[in-house]
Amino acid sequence: MLQTEAQKLFEELYGKKAEDLFTAAGRINVIGEHVDYCGGKVFPAALNLRCNVYGRKNGENVIRVAASDFKEVVTLEIDKLDSYKNLKWGNYQAGVAYYLQESGTPMVGCDLLYDCTVPFGSGLSSSAAIEVSTAVALSEYAGVSYDKVQLALISQRAENKYAGVNCGIMDQFASAMGKKEHAILLDCSSLEYEYVPLKLGDYCLVVANCNKPHNLVESKYNVRRHEVETALKAIRKVKDVSCLAELTPKEFNEVKYLLSGVVAKRAEHVVMECQRVKEAVEALKSGDLVELGRLLNESHYSLRDLYEVTGKELDMLSELARKETCCLGSRMIGAGFGGCTISIVKKDAVEGFISRVDRAYYSAIGYRASFYETSVEDGVTVQKL
Ligand code: GLA
Repeated sequence: MLQTEAQKLFEELYGKKAEDLFTAAGRINVIGEHVDYCGGKVFPAALNLRCNVYGRKNGENVIRVAASDFKEVVTLEIDKLDSYKNLKWGNYQAGVAYYLQESGTPMVGCDLLYDCTVPFGSGLSSSAAIEVSTAVALSEYAGVSYDKVQLALISQRAENKYAGVNCGIMDQFASAMGKKEHAILLDCSSLEYEYVPLKLGDYCLVVANCNKPHNLVESKYNVRRHEVETALKAIRKVKDVSCLAELTPKEFNEVKYLLSGVVAKRAEHVVMECQRVKEAVEALKSGDLVELGRLLNESHYSLRDLYEVTGKELDMLSELARKETCCLGSRMIGAGFGGCTISIVKKDAVEGFISRVDRAYYSAIGYRASFYETSVEDGVTVQKL
């Protein structure tokens, strides 16, 4: 939605014009999947697909929220912020407001309109974008000075405890802290990070959504978390480690006998994926895109065979991409069970790539994938209108 259209809608809903625009980003993850909650390093980047929040203070004791595609206004009473967990829409905002308030940020009444261009359920972190943009809006209106990492942590807490999804820190961190044309190498155990230029030369990243209807992603995600926690507990009986990411592949092989069945497979994915992140960052820094592509493929195979979070749609979409000579590598990103892939594709061949993969995916799966025009941008932004 254009800014003028958003202003018009804001006025229709709230009677006055918005005064501020807060935005936070959706994200991709180059590599390092399902390792953030195991203390591993991830390598995400913020996108031009964003949650745009138009706002103004309302002088009342309520926060009102509405969305451009859901024009009903939801009213959150500032004194009752713990009571909106079951809202179909508005619970992310309520959760963020609740945890900001709990951490000592006074909540100031305001009217907010959400125009989110991150496709929902796509694995591009629309929920993190909603949370982080809400966190920055409410902190600005509270007049407190904030730190973007703190906003990411509060947003994660809201998602874990209010929305009930036990996610790691990757999405909210990338949404808040992203930097134009850079990926963030983030150590999820210490929150130390480094920006690495996402220089792909004659290549670019193509983001494709397999459009598999969403179901039970949150509960399957929480099961995976439980499985890796089980693995860690078993390993700690013989080895003093604080998280799975601390194990080298060699150390893991020495303790693997302690694990059985799916728990062993899940832990092996985590340890090997952490190793791939290191190698991928080196490959990118030295301009070895062929190696980077190979590592992306390996990551996908591991998410398919060991972590078992892909499904036939994501497997098909990435496999069709891999078959293309203009593509160096392809993998699913995010939680999985549906959502998006990224592929490294030769810039001058993107159009043909998309049309061939699109056609072949449709004939194999029976419905179409979506392809997005993306660029890597900053995380949180704040603008006076
Ligand atoms: C989701 C979660 C993240 C991360 C990814 C998998 O996006 O929100 O914390 O665990 O899945 O890497």
